[in-house]
Amino acid sequence: MSSVLILYGTGEGQTAKIAERIATTIRKRGHETNALNVADRPESVTLDEYDAVIVGASIHVGKHQDEIRTFVADNRDALAEIPTAFFQVSLSSASEEKQGEAAGYVESFITETGWHPDRIGQFGGALRFSEYGFLKRLMMKQIAKDLLDGERRASGDVEFTDWDAVDAFAADVAAFFEGRLGVTPDSTESPAT
Ligand SMILES: Cc1cc2nc3c(=O)[nH]c(=O)nc-3n(C[C@H](O)[C@H](O)[C@H](O)COP(=O)(O)O)c2cc1C
Repeated sequence: MSSVLILYGTGEGQTAKIAERIATTIRKRGHETNALNVADRPESVTLDEYDAVIVGASIHVGKHQDEIRTFVADNRDALAEIPTAFFQVSLSSASEEKQGEAAGYVESFITETGWHPDRIGQFGGALRFSEYGFLKRLMMKQIAKDLLDGERRASGDVEFTDWDAVDAFAADVAAFFEGRLGVTPDSTESPAT
């Protein structure tokens, strides 16, 4: 059994939701997980307590959360010593034509932090029109107009996250961590459904 930290940045909660889903899959394999919002982390958190780390961040106006970028840059050496993964949540990942844009955000993150995660996942995010103010709603309708057709109209909340892809990523990351740490998954638990 190993101990896995999932540290994430989030604006409206979609990255938090994905982090919790990944935590569930990893926990079902018999590992301990701690999913923490970087903004709420206790001062005392250090990477020494963990065998492996997953970092998550979402894109807002072309950038990841500052606190996540700073945390990763500050802890780059410690992260290089253990198995790690990174996942990014954006609207670009939900759009076939914008895959390159999403990949560009990942590249920038790697360049800016100097951290090279062992595994990388990119997921579509969500639009929470019910939580946006007037201007944000207008801006997001414009940015996402190619995604908001037919049933997916610009009202209420719309989720573009492919949960099967999230589960597959979590299982792949868990298997990679187990291999690197020389631990075996708990076979008494059934896989994530
Ligand atoms: C104000 C705002 C700006 C955004 N800018 C971008 C962007 O530049 N590129 C992109 O791909 N997605 C963008 N998005 C989409 C978010 O990445 C998506 O809504 C995601 O689910 C947010 O995750 P979070 O709730 O964890 O912050 C933006 C969303 C908002 C609300």
